[in-house]
Amino acid sequence: MKENWSPQSWKFKKALHQPVYDNVTKLNKITKKMKKLPPLVFAGEVRELKCELAKCADGKGFLLQAGDCAESFAEFHPNYIRDTFRVIMQMAVILSFASGVPVVKLGRLAGQFAKPRSSPIEKKGDLELPSYLGDMINCIDFSKKAREPDPERMIQAYNQAASTQNLLRAFAYGGYADLSTIQSWNLDFVKKSKQGSNFKNLANRISECLNFMNACGVNNQNVRQLSETNFYISHEALLLPYESAFTRIDSTTGDWYNVGAHMLWIGDRTKDLNGAHVEFCSGISNPIGIKVGPTTEHNELVKVINRINPKNEEGKIVLIVRMGAGNIEKLYPPIIKAIKKNKLRVVWSCDPMHANTEKAKSGYKTRIFKNILSEVKSFFKVHNSEDIYAGGIHLEMTGQNVTECMGGMQKISDKDLSSRYHTHCDPRLNASQSIELAFLIASHLKKIK
Ligand code: PEP
Ligand code: CO
Repeated sequence: MKENWSPQSWKFKKALHQPVYDNVTKLNKITKKMKKLPPLVFAGEVRELKCELAKCADGKGFLLQAGDCAESFAEFHPNYIRDTFRVIMQMAVILSFASGVPVVKLGRLAGQFAKPRSSPIEKKGDLELPSYLGDMINCIDFSKKAREPDPERMIQAYNQAASTQNLLRAFAYGGYADLSTIQSWNLDFVKKSKQGSNFKNLANRISECLNFMNACGVNNQNVRQLSETNFYISHEALLLPYESAFTRIDSTTGDWYNVGAHMLWIGDRTKDLNGAHVEFCSGISNPIGIKVGPTTEHNELVKVINRINPKNEEGKIVLIVRMGAGNIEKLYPPIIKAIKKNKLRVVWSCDPMHANTEKAKSGYKTRIFKNILSEVKSFFKVHNSEDIYAGGIHLEMTGQNVTECMGGMQKISDKDLSSRYHTHCDPRLNASQSIELAFLIASHLKKIK
């Protein structure tokens, strides 16, 4: 356990992107209540994830972290959770089949409710209001009342995260993830597409392999990995009163663990060495993601990593690189070199979403599929030339047939965006675009094998 650290020690540092709660008595009451709420994850599971991530650091695994930009109270439905889970499973199978290594499935789910925003103010006409900061903090409606931060929302977010996690566990361990049912994972609206038929072909090949293995005596009755899967959850460690309330001592090891998610990450805007978020994350034993954007200063990043992972433990740090399609080939190699020089052990993961966001002519915030793909390609290219294993991918996606990102085989155009634009924050890949991207990544994984 780290000395001079407590789940509250971040309060002595500068905390960016925090709401100001007017009613402090209410905040204290809610915090007290949250401290007694049951954990969503167990420390033992977190340690298991760390072991799996250690494999992604040294070429024996691949990390797939995917889910909503922001979960919302309005878009909460068991079918949505099921469909996102299904698409993540499909993507995992595609990637694993190509790479020949296990894929670690990590949802951006069951707690991803707080958002850093580029501006603290949103303007519509003459009216200026505080920005929407995620359902855990305030409400997306454009009114003064709706935009007031309310601590009670943290309890609602926890309750939604708990039921989401409950359903994910049922899917992962209750038969839904059984590889023998792979033929049924294709969603109806994807079935008819090229991606759908590509997946069907892959599923047929896997079924053939399973039949053969069954004939040899290896089947879902005697090998757990064929009938169930580990599925982990993660979110950005942004709202610190919430995160500290869910940080508890593990009775087995005596160490501090955040029990609200298996893995947490620090955003690109909150990763300063002397800031509250780095302080908070430096004391918990969970794996920690760090977003690495185009303004990242190498020496500072090395110091942040050393602060969070002083023992250079493998599987502890995931660098989530989001440089932008136009920047990555120039800005990324020096970062890899700095990390190599300092012999830091990290998982390298590519986030091709967050630096490729733009405003479409229609006014919608969007991302163009070919830019996303281009950043992914450049990521693999840089890794190839630096001779360092590319260990993961970080995506904003959903299992629904939304129209938020442009392009892909469905050729979603600017005029299509308005038809099913449901995100509460950034544009997500829909099911079909997610599967298309997984096949394209798979082709890169095959090449580097
Ligand atoms: C996010 O992952 O939703 C996000 C805000 O990312 P970043 O910190 O990289 O901008
Ligand atoms: Co986002």
